[in-house]
Amino acid sequence: MTTTQSSPTAAGSGSSATEAFRAGRAATPGAPAVPPERVSAVVSSLLAGIHRTIRTESVTYDEFQAAKQYLIDVGEGGEWPLLLDVFVEHVVEEVAAADQDGTKGSILGPYYLPGQARSTSPATLPQRADEQGTKLVFSGQVRGTDGEPLPGAEIDIWQADDQGYYSGFAPHLPDGNLRGVVVADGQGRFEIHTVEPAPYQIPTDGPTGTLIEAAGWHPWRPAHLHLLVRAPGYRTVTTQLYFRGGEWLDSDVASATKPELVLDPVDAGDGTCTVEYDFTLEPA
Ligand code: DHB
Ligand code: FE
Repeated sequence: MTTTQSSPTAAGSGSSATEAFRAGRAATPGAPAVPPERVSAVVSSLLAGIHRTIRTESVTYDEFQAAKQYLIDVGEGGEWPLLLDVFVEHVVEEVAAADQDGTKGSILGPYYLPGQARSTSPATLPQRADEQGTKLVFSGQVRGTDGEPLPGAEIDIWQADDQGYYSGFAPHLPDGNLRGVVVADGQGRFEIHTVEPAPYQIPTDGPTGTLIEAAGWHPWRPAHLHLLVRAPGYRTVTTQLYFRGGEWLDSDVASATKPELVLDPVDAGDGTCTVEYDFTLEPA
């Protein structure tokens, strides 16, 4: 693992998010082509929304040209995954989850990296020798919707560090830091040792941050753990877990919090916090 001293910037995390997205697409070829009727229906509806906005807001030529420039900048800055995941993905998730039982889902976001180090529970996520932050022991059980334990379920977990940065997207962090795939035991139980993440700030020096500032919004997401929970024969849950009382919990810029996804960690007395959370998967 190598570290460099350069500080994280939007340019770094944004274009890395585009690269990670491209690599993910390349690794999963064979996505079905969208049929012409569907392209026509969705794009017509999208354009109708834009046309309506132009009329109701009396959008001017200056604003139209500023919008074109902005869209060009988002692409050149490599920030399409950030922008779309912050402002759009929560509704895609809502629609996808309409027929889903079990643990509530939340957005994947732009920072998932597949193929992280696997370990069996109890596991400590890869971290620096001097990793900062409150130690967190996160444990629970993965069950099916009928209550059956799911032996060997996998908890694919990734999170920001105590400064709000994600490894793989912030050049000063070692690859794989605070990421891992933890395999549950024969009863579907898991125990993961990590640190509490800090809230995440949308990079302020790229186009997504520029828009947030221009609109007078705030650029924060509450502290969260990202999870993909899977077991053979069951539908994978993509979700996030938040922290009770955490800053920005009620005003997430990505609108991705849900009351069922808030953890209540307890201080074990030695500066370590512990928390239990069980996952429920529905048969695929
Ligand atoms: C973004 C970052 C996240 O960590 C997340 O969970 C969702 C979105 C973003 O920058 O787009
Ligand atoms: Fe995140």
